[in-house]
Amino acid sequence: MPNAPEKSILCVGLELENIAEWPSQCAAHTTPQEQQEAGRYAHMEDSARHLAGRALARRLLRAAYGQDSAVVFARSPYGKPFCPGVSADFSISHSGCMVWVAFCRCARVGIDVERMRPLPDAAELTSQLHPQEQKDLLSLPPAELQRAFYRCWTRKEAVIKAVGMGLSMPLQSFSVHTGPQESGWIASFTANAVQGTAAMLEDGGLWTSRDIRTTDGYQCSMAAQSPCLDVVVRLAC
Ligand SMILES: CC(C)(COP(=O)(O)OP(=O)(O)OC[C@H]1O[C@@H](n2cnc3c(N)ncnc32)[C@H](O)[C@@H]1OP(=O)(O)O)[C@@H](O)C(=O)NCCC(=O)NCCS
Repeated sequence: MPNAPEKSILCVGLELENIAEWPSQCAAHTTPQEQQEAGRYAHMEDSARHLAGRALARRLLRAAYGQDSAVVFARSPYGKPFCPGVSADFSISHSGCMVWVAFCRCARVGIDVERMRPLPDAAELTSQLHPQEQKDLLSLPPAELQRAFYRCWTRKEAVIKAVGMGLSMPLQSFSVHTGPQESGWIASFTANAVQGTAAMLEDGGLWTSRDIRTTDGYQCSMAAQSPCLDVVVRLAC
């Protein structure tokens, strides 16, 4: 498992072939509590993704801080998992047969991966987005709308997951560019949009934002709350 250099964001992806085998493959790197949580999912695929994400995050933390670290993860009041006693941040995302974890020692980080499925209602879904995003997306020809919608979605989710407030953070409180540029796509934050996080959100230039190239048919984006960080991308097995 690669170790994350200082002042960088390490993004590690895992493709779950034979997804049914993953719960047992993850046993050595997951806790009884996580295995119990996984057992409550109705679908085996969701259990496998949950366990694979937790196992991958734990392996990264152990590579960085040693075998005894990252024994048990806690969750913030909004649900973001973290490792008590460790200052590094990490973020987990899973969709289809992909799992991605972003890890950063010096900034809050968020990652989101989505398997792209046909979205016949993409135009209607834009009504939930920031007005500028909505305008940009609706100006596209229908053939380009769906791809751009997914870009917008994973970029917004990456920011939301870095902030860690989940859907308590209004989707209209900030905007991202929806075009194909792979980095620097945070466009604007609305000051005071979210109580207590205004200073953190005011300037998109204070962030590192990057799309991560992954398997065909998936869109993946990462954002971290510190400018000009290196982004290191690796695949795990
Ligand atoms: C909670 C949320 C992070 C879930 O995201 P998601 O895209 O459905 O699922 P992902 O696989 O990417 O992420 C799930 C992981 O995020 C992590 N997570 C949960 N709550 C989190 C929070 N508040 N902040 C950051 N990470 C969180 C967990 O690790 C979780 O996986 P685990 O429980 O197996 O460990 C949240 O942002 C959400 O519900 N989004 C709904 C989708 C939506 O409306 N998006 C609008 C974008 S246009």
